[in-house]
Amino acid sequence: MSEQAKRTVLITGASSGIGEAFAEVWLESGFNLVITARRLDRLQSIKQKLLNKYDAKIDLISMDLSESEAPKSIYQYCIDNTIQIDALVNNAGYGNPGKFEDIDWDTHQRFLQVMVNAVVELTYLFLPNMVRNGYGRIINLASLAPFIPAPDMAGLYSPVKLFQIKFSESIHMQYLDKGIHCSAVCPGLTRTEFHVAAGMDEVVNTPNWLWMDSKTVAKQGLNAVMSGKMILINGRLNKFFAVLAKIIPQGVSRSIARTFTKRSTKYVKK
Ligand SMILES: NC(=O)c1ccc[n+]([C@@H]2O[C@H](COP(=O)([O-])OP(=O)(O)OC[C@H]3O[C@@H](n4cnc5c(N)ncnc54)[C@H](OP(=O)(O)O)[C@@H]3O)[C@@H](O)[C@H]2O)c1
Repeated sequence: MSEQAKRTVLITGASSGIGEAFAEVWLESGFNLVITARRLDRLQSIKQKLLNKYDAKIDLISMDLSESEAPKSIYQYCIDNTIQIDALVNNAGYGNPGKFEDIDWDTHQRFLQVMVNAVVELTYLFLPNMVRNGYGRIINLASLAPFIPAPDMAGLYSPVKLFQIKFSESIHMQYLDKGIHCSAVCPGLTRTEFHVAAGMDEVVNTPNWLWMDSKTVAKQGLNAVMSGKMILINGRLNKFFAVLAKIIPQGVSRSIARTFTKRSTKYVKK
């Protein structure tokens, strides 16, 4: 058994999409899993599917990260079951469709709890043990959105993803000498349940060449954190978009983004 086979990764939002794909790629590289999300039935069927292919220990935690006590409860579960977390993937996330002012405050607050507070608190809780062991791998699932003008999804999606990128950078730079790598993984459009859940039919129907698949995104993310890459933009096309947004006049890129946002918001299902 390799040294890595004894290690465990905790993945949030593993009941679908990129999180589910991460579960498989970490298993492939010899880690045990603790996977969490709200939908326990989905986690159970993913566990069964993975155990048919891989020999590993997989723990499931059904948890709503918009509850302020959720990170502590996940941490306590690991303590109670003597599970040492060596790697953390803060992947759970979603976008609220609509305009900033049209969303009630409780919905905004829950969004910030999942996308900011839970990310920081899970890192805060699990990092000290990684430091003690001289080994830790942390991925924060950010996005291409902060690299381009992206005012959609209630005006908060891009700002929280920018936070995740800068948070990853801070943790990576503060703890690199302790054997900790922290990467912000920044995919563009990826075929998952994300845009369907957000009711963004207009985006779902954009051409396939704009999209990546979640397994490729997850594999690239794992390679990035293992090699100590701080910020990864997935795929050549998304890297091109990020460069393009830097070099074309901001007025032009903002006006394209405004048009795109108006169109995608118009198609949002209420
Ligand atoms: N798809 C894209 O184009 C894209 C692009 C850039 C970045 N991302 C980011 O990638 C990450 C994964 O998204 P995805 O595309 O894989 O979407 P997805 O298929 O909709 O998966 C989202 C995951 O987050 C979990 N989740 C959502 N709200 C939660 C809550 N309150 N508590 C606990 N878990 C919660 C969901 O599980 P339950 O519903 O079972 O709780 C699900 O497992 C997100 O952070 C997203 O912002 C996606």
